[in-house]
Amino acid sequence: SGPATAAPVVIDTVAGVRSAVDGWRAAGLRVALVPTMGSLHAGHLALVARGAELADRVIVSVFVNPLQFGPSEDFARYPRDLAADRALLAGVDGAAGAVTVFAPSVDEMYPTGPVETRVTAGDVGSTFEGAARPGHFDGVLTIVAKLLGIVTPDVVLFGEKDAQQV
Ligand code: PAF
Repeated sequence: SGPATAAPVVIDTVAGVRSAVDGWRAAGLRVALVPTMGSLHAGHLALVARGAELADRVIVSVFVNPLQFGPSEDFARYPRDLAADRALLAGVDGAAGAVTVFAPSVDEMYPTGPVETRVTAGDVGSTFEGAARPGHFDGVLTIVAKLLGIVTPDVVLFGEKDAQQV
């Protein structure tokens, strides 16, 4: 095995991630975004590796998005372990030094509290899994739209775990 790589830097503010991206852009670098809710596994790491092939810098967002959890789904108990996620990211082949974690708080992402403006998934959001999870895909689209607006990546990578999300 190669030399150990340092765990990626964590940025937890919108202003911080914007300023990092501005600096990379000014240096002519391409930026990839891998949106996640943490609890990283091999699937996420494959997206990060691909992101590092397609761009010079990879932002991995780690945010458990309350907006996509229903009232009977356990937002509070969703697993969160940023140290473990960072350790896994440090080991992604070909991504050494390229990865930055964006791990904002709920207040940072939804500073006005209750969210009144959302992206609506339309019909696709209420079929299949969406039939049992009203509002789930609206919550996913809303946070993805916010992340795209904040990071303004050249490329964004999603897993294929969910046909509707893809
Ligand atoms: O697929 C997920 O993990 C989430 O739905 C996403 C895209 C990170 C949005 O919170």
